[in-house]
Order: sequence, then C-alpha cells, then structure tokens
Amino acid sequence: VITSPRNPRVAEALQLRRRSVREDRREFLAEGPQVVLEALAAGAVQEVFVEQTPAGATSPPVSAPIRDSARRAGVPVHDVSTAVMRRLATTVTPQGVVAVCGFVDVPETAVPSGGMVPVLVEVRDPGNAGTILRSADAAGAAAVVVVGASVDVYNEKAVRASAGSLFHLPVVRGVGVDEVLELLRSRGLRVLASAADGARTIHEVDLTGGVAVLFGNEARGLPAGVRAAADDTVRIPIHGLAESLNLAAAASVVLFESARQRVEGGGLP
Ligand SMILES: C[S@@+](CC[C@H](N)C(=O)[O-])C[C@H]1O[C@@H](n2cnc3c(N)ncnc32)[C@H](O)[C@@H]1O
Repeated sequence: VITSPRNPRVAEALQLRRRSVREDRREFLAEGPQVVLEALAAGAVQEVFVEQTPAGATSPPVSAPIRDSARRAGVPVHDVSTAVMRRLATTVTPQGVVAVCGFVDVPETAVPSGGMVPVLVEVRDPGNAGTILRSADAAGAAAVVVVGASVDVYNEKAVRASAGSLFHLPVVRGVGVDEVLELLRSRGLRVLASAADGARTIHEVDLTGGVAVLFGNEARGLPAGVRAAADDTVRIPIHGLAESLNLAAAASVVLFESARQRVEGGGLP
C-alpha cells in the first residue's frame, strides 16, 4: 500500500493537475468509480489508484468492479492510503478511485459530416464544458468541437462534470477561431450561431442533417466575426425577464430540440 504522496507513481500523477504537464504527456486524471469504469471501457486508462479498503469493512469495496475491469485490461492498480487518496482526489469527499488516462480527443479530420455538432468557442468554465459534453452525448450529438482559448476538457472539473461522456463521443480540440468555420463547412455542415438575440428561434430552424451550432463565452458570447460569418443566428425564446441562459443550459436546450426534430423525422430512435 502506498502511504506517501512522494511515492514516484503518486508524484507523477499529481503533476497532471497542471495543464502544461497534461499537454506534454497527453495524460489526465479521472476521478470516481463511474468515470473510471467508463474510461476503462474506452481503453483510456493507464494506471489506477484505489483507496485501501478499511480493515474490517463488511460491504464490498466500491473498487471491486474497477479491479476486475483493470485486471482484464492489464492495467496496473495501486493501493493507496486514505491520506494519499485525499491528495490525488479533488473532491471534498473522495470516492476512493483515481485513474491516469491518455488523451481521447480526435484530430480535426475526424469532424463528422453529418449529425449535430456543438462547437464551444472560448468557453471558460470547466463545469459548463463537461456538462455540454454530457448533454451532447445524451442528445445523440455526433461530436463536440472545442475552439480557441477554451477551457481544457481534461481539467478535473470538466472531466467530472462530463460524467463519463468524454469517453463516449468524438471530441476535437485545439481548433483556431479563425479556421473553425472553414473546417465545419469543409465537412459539409451548416453553421448556426446561437445567441439570445438570434434572428430565428430554434423551433423554426431545421436542426436535422449535418449542422454545427456555435456556443459562445459565458460573459461575452460569440466573437462578432464568427457570429457574422455563420449561415444563420438562432435563439431559444425567452418568456420571462432573464437576459440570456447559462451556457450549458442553452446548449442542452438546443441539443435536445435537435434530438426532438431528429426523432420526429425518423433520424434518431
Ligand atoms: C451566458 S451567454 C452570453 C451572454 C452575453 N451577455 C452575450 O452578450 O451573448 C453564453 C452563451 O450561451 C448561449 N445562449 C445563452 N442564452 C441563449 C439563448 N436565449 N438563445 C441561444 N443561445 C443562448 C449563447 O451561445 C451564448 O454565447
């Protein structure tokens, strides 16, 4: 059992809290049994840290399925003390499992030519980014594209908020703001800019077929140039006094309006 945070395996894993180290090593940390199981199923896990089961525990440890899955995949599992798990985990009440995973994003050439593709432009909040990944997965989106100086999808809060969806659908990152429209159009996608003052409502616009919807920064919205270059601007109608919706709430509404239209058209089960 590893009891010191200075243990080389633990120290190397702790360095992954820094974005620059994640980028260099193309590795990140995933935390909690559900996310780690999804990561194992996706073949993304390189090693797992599991909190030692307390002596005399009567119920099976939460880590039992993880140990099984890791063993089948040939992934090393390190037992660690409660104190070490508290260092590795970022939650207030750690769930006893942290994994080192390899990056799972796909290259720009993997942007699909059909389906719904939400595009995050200079999004800053990791919780929003992770929540949008989760909603995109749930709504049957084809991929998620992350653009410009956006938050790192491998930030631990984003990974946690995605609840495993990071491992379920293609994520393309590192696309420049200047090149994103050309990239989306080269794939044959229609490009819609979402904004609270968009010209047409999401209920009037066809959100089926190959369509990319751009979502903007939490404070500033979309850059004017990007918005102007889109094929159309769309809005979620607001019936009360709120000026706009939270970014992740807005993306979820658009994604599920697209799913609704696709189900009605027979394009989604
Ligand atoms: C909190 S809003 C940004 C508000 C900012 N004050 C602005 O001027 O755009 C962040 C993003 O959420 C999306 N959004 C928020 N409310 C929306 C609405 N009613 N319709 C469509 N998109 C919306 C847009 O993508 C927007 O760029």
